[in-house]
Amino acid sequence: MKVLILGVNGFIGSHLTDRILSETTWEIRGMDLAKNKVTEHFDNPRFSFLHGDISTSSEWIEYQVHDCNVVLPLVAIATPKVYVTDPLKVFGLDFEENLKVVKYCVKHHKRILFPSTSEVYGMCNDEEFDEETSQFVTGPVPMTRWIYSTSKQLLDRVIWSYGQQRGLKFTLFRPFNWVGPRLDSLKAAKEGSSRLATQFAWNLLSGKPLNLVDGGNALRCYCDIDDAIDGLMSILRNEGGKADGKIFNIGNPQNCLSVREIAELMIGIWDVHPFRLERGLPQGSVVDVVSGEYYGSGYQDVARRVPSIKRMQEVFGFQPKTGITESLKKMLDSVIDEFMSLEKM
Ligand code: UGA
Repeated sequence: MKVLILGVNGFIGSHLTDRILSETTWEIRGMDLAKNKVTEHFDNPRFSFLHGDISTSSEWIEYQVHDCNVVLPLVAIATPKVYVTDPLKVFGLDFEENLKVVKYCVKHHKRILFPSTSEVYGMCNDEEFDEETSQFVTGPVPMTRWIYSTSKQLLDRVIWSYGQQRGLKFTLFRPFNWVGPRLDSLKAAKEGSSRLATQFAWNLLSGKPLNLVDGGNALRCYCDIDDAIDGLMSILRNEGGKADGKIFNIGNPQNCLSVREIAELMIGIWDVHPFRLERGLPQGSVVDVVSGEYYGSGYQDVARRVPSIKRMQEVFGFQPKTGITESLKKMLDSVIDEFMSLEKM
C-alpha cells in the first residue's frame, strides 16, 4: 500500500511514519515544510519526502493522490493562540488548502483519512462527546477561536456529503488532546503559542511560572500519542472496510485532568528531574492569568471535554493504556532534548 501523508513532519505525521515503517511493508510519500522529525527515515527506500508547501505544490500533490492508495492531509494550524491572532491564516490553510486535497481524492477515487478534531464539539454539554449524537456548540462570530472548529466542521460535512453523493471512501478521526514527544516546537512555545503540555514544558525550562488561564479549571482528557497511533493504525488497516464512511473519536477518557492538575503533575516531574537539578534551575510555580489578556478578546474556552470512545472500542477493540504521568515524562524529556540541541547550534 502507498500512503500519502501531507504534513509528515508534524506531531501526528512523524509518529505515524515511525509506526508504518516499523510495523508494515507499506510505502510513504511525505511532504512538509520541515524535515527534522523524519530525517532518520531518509535512508529507508519505503520513505520519500518532498520539502514543500501545500499551497504551492498542487501539481505534486495531485500526482501523488493519483499514485497512492490512501491520503492523510495532516497539514493544519492547531494552536488556539493562532485561532485568535490570525483566524484567516487558519481558514486558508486548514480549510481552503485541505479542500483542494479532498477534491483530488474525489477526482481520483482515493481513500481519505481526514483529521477532524475534538474542537468540533466546542462547548457541548454532554458528559461524553459522541460522534453521531452530540451537538456542536460554538460561540459568536467575534470569538475567532471557533474558526478552527468551524473550518474542520465544514470539511467534515463536505467529506461526508462527497461520500454520500459521489462515493468518496473516507474516515473522519477526531484526536482528543493527544500528547507526547514532538507535540509543538519550542519556537512556538517561546512565542507563547503552543498547546498546553509543550507550553508548560518550555515555561519550566526557561524558569517562568506556568500560566493558569481563568483559574486552570478547564478539563481535558489526554491520550498518549502511542495509544492514539494504535487507534489510527487500525483505521488505516481498515480490515473488512470497517472504518469506511465512519467517524471515530480517538482519546483516553481515563486520563481526564484540569489544567491546574496538569500543572501540578508537571511541576512534580520537573522539580526532581536530573536536568533541573544538574543545572540548578528554578523549581516550577504557577500564576493566574485572564484569558482575554493571555490569548486576546476572541478567546472562549471549552470547560470540559471528554470523548466517548465506544465506537473505536466496539469496531477495533481500541483500549488506550498509558497513564498521563508517563506521557508527560516522555514529552518533557523530548522537549529537554530539543532544548539542548538548540543550545549546541
Ligand atoms: C486543542 C487545539 O485546539 C487542537 O490542538 C486540538 O484540535 C484539540 O485541542 C485537541 O488536541 O483535542 P485545547 O485543548 O483548548 O485545544 O488547547 P491547549 O492549548 O492544549 O489548552 C488546553 C487548556 O489549557 C485550555 O483551557 C487553555 O486555556 C489552557 N492553557 C493553555 C493554560 O491554562 N495555560 C497555558 O499556558 C496554555
